Amino acid sequence: MKRTSIKDALASAGPVKEITVCGWVRTRRDAKGFSFIELNDGSTLKNLQVIVDEGIPAYNQIKNANTGASVRVSGALVESPGKGQTFEVRAAGLEILGEADPETFPLQKKRHSDEFLRTIAHLRPRTNKYGAAFRIRSEAAFGLHEYFRKEGFYYVHTPILTGSDCEGAGAMFRVTTLPQGAPLAEGEGVNPYAGDFFGREANLTVSGQLELEAMIMGLGRVYSFGPTFRAENSNTPRHAAEFWMVEPEMAFADLEDNMELAEGMTKHVVEHVLTHCGPDVELFNKYVDTGLLEGLKALLGRPFARVSYAEAVDILKRSGKAFEYPVEFGTDLQTEHERYLSEEYAKRPVIVYDYPKEIKAFYMRLNADGRTVRAMDVLVPRIGELIGGSQREERLDALEARMRELGQNMDNYAWYLDLRRFGTVPHSGFGMGFERLLMLLTGITNIRDVLPFPRTPGNLEF
Ligand code: 4AD
Ligand code: MG
Repeated sequence: MKRTSIKDALASAGPVKEITVCGWVRTRRDAKGFSFIELNDGSTLKNLQVIVDEGIPAYNQIKNANTGASVRVSGALVESPGKGQTFEVRAAGLEILGEADPETFPLQKKRHSDEFLRTIAHLRPRTNKYGAAFRIRSEAAFGLHEYFRKEGFYYVHTPILTGSDCEGAGAMFRVTTLPQGAPLAEGEGVNPYAGDFFGREANLTVSGQLELEAMIMGLGRVYSFGPTFRAENSNTPRHAAEFWMVEPEMAFADLEDNMELAEGMTKHVVEHVLTHCGPDVELFNKYVDTGLLEGLKALLGRPFARVSYAEAVDILKRSGKAFEYPVEFGTDLQTEHERYLSEEYAKRPVIVYDYPKEIKAFYMRLNADGRTVRAMDVLVPRIGELIGGSQREERLDALEARMRELGQNMDNYAWYLDLRRFGTVPHSGFGMGFERLLMLLTGITNIRDVLPFPRTPGNLEF
């Protein structure tokens, strides 16, 4: 089926005698002697105007070209006399591929709420807003790959099924082939998972980091970009049970290098999307967040701020703000604190580093003070935590000591400890929640609206 995309048709160098376009009818308006169809095929935000003269044989089909119907149009691409469009199509042929009943098709011309559109996630890619969001999603992914390639990182694939808990937070989805309700094996010295597929506890991954640490010890610099699963029962606008994470990891790199990479990557992807998704970003700037473009340009214009966790706690205590959760050295920062630091204090992204070890994962490198670790979080306006990472503990004795303190099962991590036994090196990395990046890029405030089919507690439709 030879067809020209609407994006290409609108960007044509000149008129074209014969062209075929396909798409979905956004609106149709009937005038005396002809009809106007606004056609969209997803290749661009803009619609292509099609003029169907009542003189063409297919005009008897026009009453079925309702909002939502799919059509194929052949005809001539001509310069448009109308304002705001370069070209339009004068139809010679019109074929209705699939009708959409105006009584039951839910997307009519009016604006629908995000809440309503979430209930019809299978139809919302056909709206301007969600079409734009998912085009930006695609382009942002490409921009990330481009950045890492330029910086000499290899793209690697870490497993989705895993036997270890990277974050040690226990918020994992169990995977089993045992029948529902089947008891685990019992008895002295019996493996409780003996009857299960892997013969041991299996989960969906919460992070590919541990495997990435193995990969860099041969490849130097790697990154993964894939689905990640967390069974935290937190019903917030920033958490999903299934989300995508970008995780770079570097050998011979300290926390300073890590911060530079996080800032360079974020700026590159923002710039990439501004360059390649102009009209889509403008839509968000116009209808979703009128400060969006200004904010993104400001992000590019200055270095990210940097404050240690101890400084951040002082700043928060001195802020005079009535936070819902009080802060003291040792407490985890809440979203309200993270937002204050980036929105009001720094007025730009801020990197907080050197957190107390108690509130961070076991693998982070212990500082000389014995109580903080070389952790870093990148906090951004409106969202809070965009990136979490650290310099890793590369010293075998220090790592083992920390794992013992936390009561971890060393047998499960034998291979991970091997990495410190054989040719260990200082190394660092981080994870960025891809959906949080998309919220930053679009001004969308709910993570459910940047995921095509969001999975959150109680929601697994589609
Ligand atoms: O801070 P987190 O938990 O860090 C890690 O998992 C590290 N192992 C990553 C690494 O160093 N390689 O998660 C990283 C990022 C967060 O900063 C956040 O942006 C995102 O992942 N994230 C979520 N995004 C959406 N829904 C959730 N439930 C998320 N949990 C974390
Ligand atoms: Mg984190």
